[in-house]
Amino acid sequence: MVKVNFDKANEINNIDKYVNEAKEHISDLLSDKIDMTGWVKHPINYDKEEFARIKEVAAEIKNEAEVLVSIGIGGSYLGAKAAIDFLSDYYANRLKHEKGKGVEVIFVGNGLSEKYLKETLDYVEGKNFYINVISKSGGTLEPAVAFDKFKKLCEKKYGKDETKKRIIATTDKEKGILKEEANKEGYRTFVVPDNIGGRYSVLSAVGLLPIAAAGYDIDKLLAGAKSAYDVYTKDDVKVNDAMKYAIVRNLYYNNGKDIEVFSTLSPNMQYFSEWLKQLFGESECKGNKGIFPASLNMTADLHSMGQLMQDGKRNLFETFITITNDYDDDRIRYSDKFYVNDLNDIALRATEKAHLTGNVPVIDIRVSEQNEITLGELFYFFMMSCAISALILKVNPFNQPGVEEYKKNIKELLK
Ligand code: PA5
Repeated sequence: MVKVNFDKANEINNIDKYVNEAKEHISDLLSDKIDMTGWVKHPINYDKEEFARIKEVAAEIKNEAEVLVSIGIGGSYLGAKAAIDFLSDYYANRLKHEKGKGVEVIFVGNGLSEKYLKETLDYVEGKNFYINVISKSGGTLEPAVAFDKFKKLCEKKYGKDETKKRIIATTDKEKGILKEEANKEGYRTFVVPDNIGGRYSVLSAVGLLPIAAAGYDIDKLLAGAKSAYDVYTKDDVKVNDAMKYAIVRNLYYNNGKDIEVFSTLSPNMQYFSEWLKQLFGESECKGNKGIFPASLNMTADLHSMGQLMQDGKRNLFETFITITNDYDDDRIRYSDKFYVNDLNDIALRATEKAHLTGNVPVIDIRVSEQNEITLGELFYFFMMSCAISALILKVNPFNQPGVEEYKKNIKELLK
């Protein structure tokens, strides 16, 4: 289970101020009082029939293809990218995936770089590929542009009939351009549930199909989320660390700490931080309020951002997310006394101590292993704490009115 150490967070002594309020928010999240809270009970009441279909389609992809092109942006790709990076061996996609065991998953449609699109089309052209296009609204510009090109490549390479089998759309159950196109062309579809928004959707088909196609165990992922659900929906602050973390974040914020730096020590957690940045940024930062989520990759960033952390403006707090056993069985020694990973741990302790001296409060979040179960726990822990934290801040965690503004401008400019 996710372990949170609040020893170095002095605000922990003042949590009483928000405990009753946080209890009410948990009860609201568990009831139907708030819209878009389908993710809360998803680990227990997900659609079992769809889940079985996801596994079947993933097995087909693993047997038939080398590459899955996953097309989506924001909540429609970050969770899967974070998960696959977290679970993969560093070189797994290139060196170790074998037929039937897992495909290389390539993410496109998450930007508008022509060079990236062109080079990805060129890379994929020579491979045996399937496409999973993911968009809840069905009309987002970036994935729509990429989908148009990859669909044409698929039709050119495999013909129209075979393309029907190779394109899988994950979208709204009945509306949107993508759903209409899937119906017209006969693509198989999976559903982004009505009451689950993009950044809370990683445990639905949005994340599950690419993660399963990459060769990872989605039963275990959901089992991890389920055990997290059992703990982090309890309204007892003594056992619910997601609740405690949400409260402490608000206390920091009230003390002028309006930047949270997520620091990780494993390079394959960089996209987990990107997922966190979207989750917290889009859920909490609205109405001129909110904590700006930033991230650091340790120890590399100590040599680029260490000065700022130690000695810059004192408006930040730091949340370390670490994996206790982040090493292979065949271990590498640094000396008679230490393995390399011990150095990582020493660096963590030294950095925490230094930043505390520099008046940066620290929270320590740890999981023991890097696997599907702990990942399911982490996803759920952070979604729950983010929702409680935003509700304490009196913002709606489930809308994103600010994202619409630039989209309007793009439409204007395209006219
Ligand atoms: O969290 C969100 O709602 C957003 O990040 C969306 O996931 C993102 O904008 C993509 O939207 P869509 O899935 O409709 O293409």
